[in-house]
Amino acid sequence: MTHPEPLLQVRDLRVDVGERNVLKSVSLDVPAGALVVLMGANGSGKSTLGLTLAGHPRYRVVGGRARFAGQDLLALSPETRARAGLFVSFQAPPEIPGVKNNLFIRTALNAVRAARGEAPLDAFDFLGDARTAATRLGLPEAMLSRPVNDGFSGGERKRNELLQLALLKPRLALLDEIDSGMDVDGVRAVVQLVQELRAQGTAFIVISHYLQLIESLAPDAVLRLDQGCIAQTGDIALAGDIARTGFAPAAEAVAV
Ligand SMILES: Nc1ncnc2c1ncn2[C@@H]1O[C@H](COP(=O)(O)OP(=O)(O)O)[C@@H](O)[C@H]1O
Ligand SMILES: [Mg+2]
Repeated sequence: MTHPEPLLQVRDLRVDVGERNVLKSVSLDVPAGALVVLMGANGSGKSTLGLTLAGHPRYRVVGGRARFAGQDLLALSPETRARAGLFVSFQAPPEIPGVKNNLFIRTALNAVRAARGEAPLDAFDFLGDARTAATRLGLPEAMLSRPVNDGFSGGERKRNELLQLALLKPRLALLDEIDSGMDVDGVRAVVQLVQELRAQGTAFIVISHYLQLIESLAPDAVLRLDQGCIAQTGDIALAGDIARTGFAPAAEAVAV
């Protein structure tokens, strides 16, 4: 019996940002429907990995490969990656002045629906779904008709990322410190939404420093990134060790 290819397969990925080599060698697998937690000290390259997978032009791949859903991910444009079912949330979601939030999300959703062979949603149907999802995420409905993230607080921006996630229903979602800046209700909403989407088959890479969140997500694997390399791979016990001892002792242990 042949093993199916994992949904995401990253091998020896090396990435430069400006003059710096930030990712030195990253290899990881995310099987379809799995949940992988990625931890690592500030500056270890976690967000760089997410933005590289999303196709951000500032992150230059200088070596290695990445396959997603049976395709060469790195050969695809950012929008083709999104249409193929990849969703990457921003650690610091930007404002997009002049672009209404509901139109932004509906346009993205209809592009993804077209790629899945589904009919587009009209403004009326979309608004119904968006309102329901926003209410569940504790995002005031008025924020749907404001420009994207314009004047939103940190926690509201994170909830707006979750709103996009809830409506787009990707095959793989990378959540970059989605819990930072969120209150307890927001963190609870993250757990609920992740569990709901996982039940529908979505796989996740969750970047977080927050042990309680990590434990509630019951990850299949926990990875530690250190200076642009995957330094440790384990299960939930690794997250507990890191929470207890921090990143520095583990880094020394690996260096010995
Ligand atoms: N646009 C950029 N320009 C220059 N350096 C960057 C840029 N983005 C990230 N870096 C550097 O790359 C390293 C990794 O950053 P990042 O991926 O954001 O780390 P993490 O998310 O793990 O905290 C850091 O040293 C950071 O300063
Ligand atoms: Mg980061």
